[in-house]
Amino acid sequence: MVATTIVNPLREGLRLARTPEPSTIVIFGGSGDLTQRKLMPALYNLALQRLLPGSFSIVGSARQPLTDDQYRAELHDAVGEHSRTKPLNEEVWKTFAEHLFFVPTPDDHGYDALRERLDHLDVELGTNANRLFYLATPPGSYAAIVKAIGVHGLRGRTGWARIVVEKPFGRDRQSARELTETIHQVFREDEVFRIDHYLGKETVQNILVMRFANGIFEPIWNRQYVDHVQITAAETIGVEERAGYYEQAGAMRDIVQNHLLQLLALVAMEPPAAFDDKAVRDEKVKVLRALRAIRAEDLPDHAVRGQYTHGFIEGVAVPGYREEPGIAKDSRTETYVALKGFVDNWRWEGTPFYMRTGKRLPKRTTEIAIQFRVAPHQLFSREASAGLDPNALVLRIQPDEGVSLKFGAKVPVQGIRIRSVNMDFDYGASFMVDAPDAYETLILDALRGDATLFTRRDEVDQQWAFVDPIIAAWAASPEPPYFYEAGSWGPPEADALIEQDGREWRKA
Ligand SMILES: NC(=O)c1ccc[n+]([C@@H]2O[C@H](COP(=O)([O-])OP(=O)(O)OC[C@H]3O[C@@H](n4cnc5c(N)ncnc54)[C@H](OP(=O)(O)O)[C@@H]3O)[C@@H](O)[C@H]2O)c1
Repeated sequence: MVATTIVNPLREGLRLARTPEPSTIVIFGGSGDLTQRKLMPALYNLALQRLLPGSFSIVGSARQPLTDDQYRAELHDAVGEHSRTKPLNEEVWKTFAEHLFFVPTPDDHGYDALRERLDHLDVELGTNANRLFYLATPPGSYAAIVKAIGVHGLRGRTGWARIVVEKPFGRDRQSARELTETIHQVFREDEVFRIDHYLGKETVQNILVMRFANGIFEPIWNRQYVDHVQITAAETIGVEERAGYYEQAGAMRDIVQNHLLQLLALVAMEPPAAFDDKAVRDEKVKVLRALRAIRAEDLPDHAVRGQYTHGFIEGVAVPGYREEPGIAKDSRTETYVALKGFVDNWRWEGTPFYMRTGKRLPKRTTEIAIQFRVAPHQLFSREASAGLDPNALVLRIQPDEGVSLKFGAKVPVQGIRIRSVNMDFDYGASFMVDAPDAYETLILDALRGDATLFTRRDEVDQQWAFVDPIIAAWAASPEPPYFYEAGSWGPPEADALIEQDGREWRKA
């Protein structure tokens, strides 16, 4: 499985290779953490790779006043610190910064000033009134900003307009629908780009390439050959500075509703008729619709929630969730979720999809394991096969991106002894290039108008439809989440969830 070519197929043929048209990107929340750590470093790296159009401008906006020069100075330091390429190329930065502006929008006058600045930049820089709006503010401000875009005529009179919306998209099905309705008063659905940054990761896109560019996987990618699927998104970090947000969200809203269900959709979907936004998203939404709702009476056997207590991560003592700053002493927010799901369709009937995510787990890893059925006839003795695990194809999303296939091999001794071995494909070693950051891929796609890697309203709607009843049942339950020690793989009840089916979690 070791590839020798250094041509990355994800960049070479599959994605549209068009350069974006002249345009302006307007970032609301332009002074925030996301902008400093992710968006600006991504835009700078796109500039470094000459992937931005010649006529381009970036206008940051927030309520606080900043001059263009103050803004540029702030971002110079932020990009220097957070860019994936170091050190900062001062020459490229200088040109990049000349296209960088700031307009405060504390009130209506601010939005009028923003419109005037955008109109002026169109003339000065030739950006043709093509505008990409990016909502990078706290989600409570999304609706007001979208309305202001409409009321103050921020869409150009000519040119295209699109809007990128950061996660979380709503906090339940109803609020997500309301937000979509509000956005649709100003933008058509094909102008709305809802970000799930997992979809921008190279290895997530590689799920589609693996499955649909190769002939060998698809024939066995179904209930006849697959025993079950395990999707794991494990973090070692705790709640960090996000207490206010996380207390309200929990692992279900933060990770399961979006990232895990999108991974499940990509793994389980039927082959799309084309590699374009409509066909790919049509197939994903079919999977999400086929995802069986977990009924209240089935909840204990299908869903487990946990919360970390103090423990050790890599030998360092860490506090429990309830001891973290900003967290209620009796908080019932889940920091861990394990689920058993079923996709009720022809391909997957009866095949469990086990999912788990958690904070303060022993290892940072995101992976999808397709575990195959055992050989139908055991030719070798039980003793000889003692070291044999079931065959598994593991798609590693992060870190150490790659794919490995686990199968049994003969141990080189006299007689037959079998042990499981791995055949490995390692992304870094095979392509010898740094993968672009997910935000680079997604911003570039949004500028090009390619929505394939963004979630459509019906996908988001189905995702909430699956998680809402579980969240509601947990909220109504008098029981708190199960506790697990920081540095462990979650509560024992999560092990029981899979072990009751005669299976076990992979040692990720
Ligand atoms: N940080 C991350 O790593 C991360 C990751 C994934 C998703 N997100 C999402 O990205 C969004 C931003 O997160 P963040 O961590 O960057 O938050 P943050 O650090 O608190 O920054 C918020 C930014 O929004 C501005 N702002 C607030 N209200 C505004 C309004 N009404 N109009 C214009 N600007 C306004 C703030 O500046 P003023 O106070 O001066 O207005 C600030 O620039 C959130 O929705 C978050 O869920 C963040």
